[in-house]
Amino acid sequence: MHKTQENHKKVVLTGVTPSGTPHIGNYIGAIKPALDMAKSSAFDAYFFIADYHSLIKLWDASVRQQYIYEIAATWLALGLDPSKVIFYRQSDISEILELNWILTSIAAKGLLNRAHAYKAHVDENRAQENPDLDAGITMGLYNYPILMAADIIMFNADLVPVGKDQVQHIEIARDIANRFNHIYKTSLLKIPTAMVDESCQTIPGLDGRKMSKSYGNTIPLFAPSKKLRKLIMKIKTNSQAPEEPKSTEGCTIFSLYQQFASQEEIDHLADEYQKGIGWGQAKQILFEKIDEVLTPFREKYEHLLGNTHIIDNALEEGAKKARAIAKPLLSSIKQQIGI
Ligand code: ADP
Ligand code: TRP
Repeated sequence: MHKTQENHKKVVLTGVTPSGTPHIGNYIGAIKPALDMAKSSAFDAYFFIADYHSLIKLWDASVRQQYIYEIAATWLALGLDPSKVIFYRQSDISEILELNWILTSIAAKGLLNRAHAYKAHVDENRAQENPDLDAGITMGLYNYPILMAADIIMFNADLVPVGKDQVQHIEIARDIANRFNHIYKTSLLKIPTAMVDESCQTIPGLDGRKMSKSYGNTIPLFAPSKKLRKLIMKIKTNSQAPEEPKSTEGCTIFSLYQQFASQEEIDHLADEYQKGIGWGQAKQILFEKIDEVLTPFREKYEHLLGNTHIIDNALEEGAKKARAIAKPLLSSIKQQIGI
C-alpha cells in the first residue's frame, strides 16, 4: 500500500466534472471547504477531475480540454499543494474503469432506475408526452452513479464531500460496495459516507436564484476585473431610492459581500444599508472587495493557463500516486472475484 494509506488517516475524496467554468458558487460551496479539509493533518485528500463523467453532458472535445485546464488551474491557483493532496485526472487511472465494470456486474438495475438524474429525464419525457420515455437518455447517464461508485471505492474513501444533489449517489455507492462484500464474502471494499456541509450557504447568482451554470446567472471566479465589475453591476436589485434604508436580508449584494469581507467590513456595510445606500454604490463596494481578494489568485490562474505544462506535470505526478493506490486494490479485488 502507498504510505499515505498506511497511517489510518481518514481518506477524503471528491471529484469535479469539467462541464463549465468554475464560478463563485462552486468556490464558496465546494472548492474552499475541500481545500480547508486538505490542510488538516487528520485526512489524506484525493481531489480529481472527473473528465469521463463530463462525456455524458458535453460532446465538444476542445471545450472539454479547456474546462479540464480551467478546473485544474483553479484548484492549483487557490492553493492546492500537489505534494500534499493526490490530485489527478480520472481518465489517467484506467483501474477505475476496470472496477466500473466489476461493479456494474453486481449493481441492481432497480437501484439505478431510481437515480434522480435518470428519473428527471424520464419525467421530462413524460411531461412532454413523448411516447419514448427513454428518448435522449444515454447509457452513460443511466450508469453514471456506478462510475461514481468506482471513483470512490477505488481509493478506500471514508468521506465524500458533495453538494446535496449528490448524496443519493453516495448512497448508491454504499449499496454497491455492501453488495460486493456480501456476494464475495469479504470486507475488501470500504463503505463511504457523504459529507454535506449544512452550514454552507447557497450563493445567489445575478438574478437572485442559486448561482448555477444551468441558470446562466454565474460570476466566473476568475473573470478579469473589467468583466467582474460589469457582471456585478448587473445584479438584480429592487427599485428602492438611494436614500431609503435597506434590508440586508435576502440581498444578493450583501450575501456575496459576506463571503469575501471581514466581520468589521460586513458590519460597516450593514450600517450603510440602514442609513440608506444607493445600489450602484453598494455594487461598487462589492466589486472592489471581490476584486481585491481574488486578484492574486487570478494572476496565478492566468499564469497556469498560459503555461499548461505546469498543470500537465502536476496531474501526471498525481496520477502516479493515485495508481500506486488503485493498482494493488484492483489486484486484490480481481483475486477475490476469481480473475
Ligand atoms: P452548477 O450548479 O453551476 O452546475 P455544480 O452542480 O457543478 O454547479 O456544482 C459543483 C459544486 O459546487 C457542488 O458541490 C455544489 O454544491 C457547489 N455549488 C454550486 N453552485 C453553488 C451555489 N450557488 N452555492 C453554493 N454551492 C454551490
Ligand atoms: N458527480 C459529481 C458532480 O457532478 C462529480 C463526481 C464524479 C464526484 N465522481 C465523484 C464527486 C466522486 C464525489 C466523488 O458534482
